[in-house]
Amino acid sequence: MQTLEVKPADGGPAKWAVSVTGLTREYVTRNFFGGASKKTWALSGVDFQVAPGELFGLIGPNGAGKTTTIKILTTLLTPTGGEAKVFGLDVKKDLYEIRRRIGIVFGGERGLYNRVSAVDNLRYFSDLYGVDPSVARKRIPELLEVVGLADRAGEKVEKYSRGMKQRLHIAKALVHDPELIFLDEPTIGLDPAGARDIRNMVTELKRQGKTILLTTHYMFEAEELCQRIAVISKGKIVALDTPSELKNLVRDVSVIELRTYGATNEYVEALKTLPEVGRVTADLDSEVQDIRIQTPLGADLLSKVVAALPPGAKMIDRTIKEPTLEDAYLRLVEE
Ligand SMILES: Nc1ncnc2c1ncn2[C@@H]1O[C@H](COP(=O)(O)OP(=O)(O)OP(=O)(O)O)[C@@H](O)[C@H]1O
Ligand SMILES: [Mg+2]
Repeated sequence: MQTLEVKPADGGPAKWAVSVTGLTREYVTRNFFGGASKKTWALSGVDFQVAPGELFGLIGPNGAGKTTTIKILTTLLTPTGGEAKVFGLDVKKDLYEIRRRIGIVFGGERGLYNRVSAVDNLRYFSDLYGVDPSVARKRIPELLEVVGLADRAGEKVEKYSRGMKQRLHIAKALVHDPELIFLDEPTIGLDPAGARDIRNMVTELKRQGKTILLTTHYMFEAEELCQRIAVISKGKIVALDTPSELKNLVRDVSVIELRTYGATNEYVEALKTLPEVGRVTADLDSEVQDIRIQTPLGADLLSKVVAALPPGAKMIDRTIKEPTLEDAYLRLVEE
């Protein structure tokens, strides 16, 4: 597991932006008639820390506990047990201080006033957060510019597309200039261009020094954006590392695919004896041969594979399939 160390300049106690220790949360649901209750452990002992300025990802299957974790950290839900701290403040005690310093974006369309304009929405939320009106007057047009809504800011939100609403959600989360931003599936349901816009905004926020905790079901998004990723499954963190270290967990699924001319059965047998080569499969019946080599070495094995070709044989094509974050994710959550 990759751990980061936060060393404060004054030598005082380390200050994480987010620190979660042994966090648990149980939901009790009654059936329709108020009869027997059912208990679910949404979180059963979650630990992780997020450093100031870090872009941290939380990924996991439906129902894994991502939103529950975010709701606890944003003081919308109380934990059943364990400890959750934001800037060293306790989510159970310091609700108002925490809320002042965080922004929250949930995917989906709720949480905006549809009958009024984007500007009016942002004014309303600025008031709600107690932003000084003179500061808000300057900040709101800046935010609308950042999220690309400046030219439509006077229109009623009900006329906005889903992507525009999501960009407004981000602006709304930023009206009080929070240090820490929670993004729960911020690109869900957006078209590729809309999703890319949001990812660019996230990158820009990170560049400005904001700390970001993000959830997503899109593995490429997690990989592109996050410095470290926690994989959560059934209420437990099953891995926490950088995207490249997570992929290292499934090095063995690297595959080299060759298309050759003139490869022989002896060649295929020779490949099997090379160090760190796993399964080798070959189709030798046609004029060109397709060969698959499973190896943790990936591209590093290629020169040996070429050198072993029999005289007169040729490499027509080769593809190296390095493991993806998705491979790592699937193995982790299926284990
Ligand atoms: N209000 C609730 N009442 C009862 N159970 C709940 C409630 N909210 C969530 N749960 C349960 O808690 C568990 C974790 O849910 P949570 O919403 O945190 O998952 P998630 O990781 O955000 O999933 P998704 O990827 O689908 O958003 C699930 O088993 C879910 O059914
Ligand atoms: Mg969720």
